[in-house]
Amino acid sequence: MPSDKYVLVTGGAGYIGSHTVLELVKAGYKPVVVDNLCNSSEEAVRRVGELTDSKIPFFKTDLRDKEGLDAVFKEYSIESVLHFAGLKAVGESTKIPLEYYDSNVSGTIVLLKTMQKYNTPNFVFSSSATVYGDATRFENMIPIPEECPTGPTSPYGHTKLIIEEILGDAAAADSNLKVAILRYFNPIGAHPSGRIGEDPQGIPNNLLPFVAQVAVGRRQKLQIFGNDYESKDGTPIRDYIHVVDLAKGHLAAMAKLDSVTGQDGQGYFREWNLGTGNGSTVFEIVHAFEKATGVKIPLEVVGRRKGDVVNLTAKADRAHNELHWQTQLTIEDACRDLWKWTTENPWGYGGKPE
Ligand code: NAD
Ligand code: UD1
Repeated sequence: MPSDKYVLVTGGAGYIGSHTVLELVKAGYKPVVVDNLCNSSEEAVRRVGELTDSKIPFFKTDLRDKEGLDAVFKEYSIESVLHFAGLKAVGESTKIPLEYYDSNVSGTIVLLKTMQKYNTPNFVFSSSATVYGDATRFENMIPIPEECPTGPTSPYGHTKLIIEEILGDAAAADSNLKVAILRYFNPIGAHPSGRIGEDPQGIPNNLLPFVAQVAVGRRQKLQIFGNDYESKDGTPIRDYIHVVDLAKGHLAAMAKLDSVTGQDGQGYFREWNLGTGNGSTVFEIVHAFEKATGVKIPLEVVGRRKGDVVNLTAKADRAHNELHWQTQLTIEDACRDLWKWTTENPWGYGGKPE
């Protein structure tokens, strides 16, 4: 239930954060955004304000800037924190791991200490299915339940798991703290308005942003990273979730945290997968995009990408049962919305580079 208090959204200028800020305002919450803009544009926050006819307080602040963050908590009475801010590129994390540990882990610690100082109780964390690693190393773990043993395989994945553990320890020691861990599967698509969407810097790592850039003529062809996996067409299986459904999952998690209390001197801590529960192969996604847009995607099959796993599909029951949340939108909806965003903003939030 929205209250008079504020929701701090770290990383709220980013892809998932900006869509969540929009849903928060629509549901009557009052978000405040903190973002250092290392991978995003303030324009996203401005556009969310435009779409919702509201002015969203924005601070260009790094999470590790203790004084800067303190000033935000001093000015706004914050009841809940949605923590999206962090570095997220798997490949890059293997090259500059210390940057990843510093931004993701140190940033979270500064944030938690500031919350403690101001008695802020609710914390929702953007974790990832990447914490499971290759779930096919176990019998019967596809679709992946939250109980699946973790085993991330990159520095990025390690930071996510370490933060989960830090949050577990912090909640065990603080009866005021309530933590929701949200393990996202593969977010795709954009807001149906076409005004906000994913704006990757440089060459996109992820499948759908790459496909969209091929479709719009920014890149020549899609490379398919391997067609010799154990799946119906040989390409890996992922659980693609529309970013608007994912954003709404955060409101469901906040409602859950509002309804629970800590027990036996401890706070509250729980993990939920956010996925659809359905897997799609790379070819299925490309075909869905072609069908939704009418654009043919030139492609070539190349070798496997290092670190890819065959199947990441969520078991989504826990979120259905406990958060009363489930996805409503389809892959076709996501492709259509991505296409609107891409054609109306072919260079993202910025202009075409010289
Ligand atoms: P994004 O890069 O678009 O958003 C992250 C935002 O955090 C950016 O706006 C960036 O400028 C900001 N940021 C980074 N480090 C910061 C710092 N130290 N201080 C302040 N701001 C900082 O990424 P996204 O796709 O929106 O992802 C949001 C969160 O969800 C991330 O934590 C990511 O790891 C997680 N996640 C994303 C995916 C995905 O596929 N996009 C999947 C699983 C988990
Ligand atoms: C990647 C990350 C994962 C992260 C997720 C969401 C890796 C190894 N994993 O996952 O940790 O949580 O993004 O941000 O980077 N594909 C192609 N051609 C392309 C791009 C992708 O064939 O140009 C294929 C990939 O091989 C994969 C599928 O498309 O099978 C999805 O890829 P991607 O969007 O990068 O997501 P993940 O690999 O699931």
